[in-house]
Amino acid sequence: MCAPAFGTPSGTIYCGDNVAVLRRHISDRSVNLIYADPPFNSGHAYYATGKRREGPRFRDSWRWDDEAYQRALVESPASLAGALEALRLVLGESSALAYCAALAPCLGELRRVLKDTGSLYLHCDARMSHYLRLMLDALFGRERCRNEIVWAYRTGGAGKRHFARKHDVILFYTASDDYTFHPQRERVRYRKRFFGAQRDARGYYADVLLRDVWEVPAVINVSAERTGYPTQKPLALLERIVAASSNAGDVVLDPYCGSGTTLVAAQKLGRRWIGIDASEEAVWVARARLSQE
Ligand SMILES: C[S@@+](CC[C@H](N)C(=O)[O-])C[C@H]1O[C@@H](n2cnc3c(N)ncnc32)[C@H](O)[C@@H]1O
Repeated sequence: MCAPAFGTPSGTIYCGDNVAVLRRHISDRSVNLIYADPPFNSGHAYYATGKRREGPRFRDSWRWDDEAYQRALVESPASLAGALEALRLVLGESSALAYCAALAPCLGELRRVLKDTGSLYLHCDARMSHYLRLMLDALFGRERCRNEIVWAYRTGGAGKRHFARKHDVILFYTASDDYTFHPQRERVRYRKRFFGAQRDARGYYADVLLRDVWEVPAVINVSAERTGYPTQKPLALLERIVAASSNAGDVVLDPYCGSGTTLVAAQKLGRRWIGIDASEEAVWVARARLSQE
């Protein structure tokens, strides 16, 4: 199934496998900005908090499947198939390579639908980011990697045999060297006055250009924006990406839209949007959020 599940004048959400939806509904070079937040190869099943009995919302574990791997080679652009074969030398026939192969046809489709002035942000974590970066280098060209953004947050739980793993990686690529980019700023507070500092009721500050390390609070149980959909990303994170890499009226695509955070950010900032998710529940959650906007 890959029919539109929900539509407004600003956008459409499709329920189904993203590769099938992209092939059927989205034309070549029609999208200005893509944010993709696929499963991370965490090995976990994700449940809505407190609703374990209803079963997982989605699973994120991968098994080696030679047939699926061969299919991925055929269905991916040649450069990406080459990268998968290179990764096979490093990863062997493993769950990690199965995960890379599962993502490859979708990445190929995303490259196809991206406009020449467009950008792609791929959200992953330190377990797989280096392999995915190699795949995106093969697809876009190494020089088109603009940033490896580190999203740092503080959530509960930390191992005792290594430093607490509290960051995700967001790989930012552009389709060409002529791309939309609006520099963003963040407010930094200072104890003392210095040349150029501003002052408000809380003290001295400066609005400085945003670095590639972003401190944005994660969505936790008590967050006002929390929907209960697992792995929901903060709206503030997506607003930065949408504001930086698109203009009003542009089309923003999220092929793993989950609870619809990207679509809400796009709607708030006056962009058009397309969301895709294989889970019917995700589509319902996203739809409810968008209806409130
Ligand atoms: C990490 S979550 C996305 C969370 C989202 N960024 C948010 O803020 O709520 C990944 C999503 O990808 C969806 N998904 C996994 N495989 C998919 C596929 N092949 N096609 C479409 N959606 C898929 C899952 O159902 C899940 O909702």
